[in-house]
Amino acid sequence: MELKKKREEKGQKNNSTAIIKNKPLFSLFMVKSDIIPTLQKLTRHQHLEITARGDAAIAAALSAIPKDKVVLIPEEGGWLSYLKIPKKLGLKATEVKCDDAKINLSGLQKKLNEFSCGALLYQNPGGYFAEQPMKEIYNVCRKNNCLVIMDVSGSIGTKLCDGNYADVLVGSFGEWKLVEAKAGGFVSCKSKKLFEKIKPFCKIFDDDEKLKIISNKIQELPERISFLTEKRKKIIADLEYFDIVHKQDLGFVAVVKYQTQQEKEKIINYCKDKQLPWTECPRYIRLNKPAISIEVKRLEK
Ligand SMILES: Cc1ncc(COP(=O)(O)O)c(C=O)c1O
Repeated sequence: MELKKKREEKGQKNNSTAIIKNKPLFSLFMVKSDIIPTLQKLTRHQHLEITARGDAAIAAALSAIPKDKVVLIPEEGGWLSYLKIPKKLGLKATEVKCDDAKINLSGLQKKLNEFSCGALLYQNPGGYFAEQPMKEIYNVCRKNNCLVIMDVSGSIGTKLCDGNYADVLVGSFGEWKLVEAKAGGFVSCKSKKLFEKIKPFCKIFDDDEKLKIISNKIQELPERISFLTEKRKKIIADLEYFDIVHKQDLGFVAVVKYQTQQEKEKIINYCKDKQLPWTECPRYIRLNKPAISIEVKRLEK
């Protein structure tokens, strides 16, 4: 009776059988219709789909690139699948020169002159620590008819996640990401035309429970960003006498270069003392030079 009244108030038809039958679909729609407008605001892209993971979003975006085109990827500060997915899809990938994980603009221009490029796939911030010159990157690529696919797994909710400077945005909501739902991801497009090419490659993500977690984690995003930013600031202050790469940039790891074994040990001992997770570079997903990456983004409140 209550339900009938509520539906009548909303001007909906009374068809209780359909309500019961469609309940999972209905609640799925509710969660997605919660998430999508928020993601539209955060990305500044109107056309958006939730995917099962970040790599699925990358694969869907790259599936729309003609097979005779080259995909540009950064030589460092990228994600592991940038090296694998183009190949799997039958696309040739080539690396663009970087300066400590930032795309080098003349290196980018050089590759655009050399090859017929279908897309540049890169991460902002590079390797979770190097703010990219995203406006310049976008302008250079646009002039050369090369699409820009920007991975914002490490910047969603910050000024670096800006769909005005990318044709496609991709992101992961997996473990150790800013939206740490431990599942899911998304792909978004600036233009409807491009989205319609990419969408058929996105498998519908309909795990209701996981969608609820994603929704909650997106709500908690500002708090998580503040928490991680404060932690990183403290680390940078504690290690002020070390060579911290791009320490002024927005980032969620702190990459500390070392010259000697003694310096390396001091940084590792600091991490052990403060119970901070760390990984060793050279590493494609951070920096191709000797350094310790303090994995701030793995911390939980
Ligand atoms: C920057 C970046 N992009 C994409 C991915 C892939 O995301 P997923 O593990 O959800 O497929 C990751 C995963 O760690 C990542 O760090």
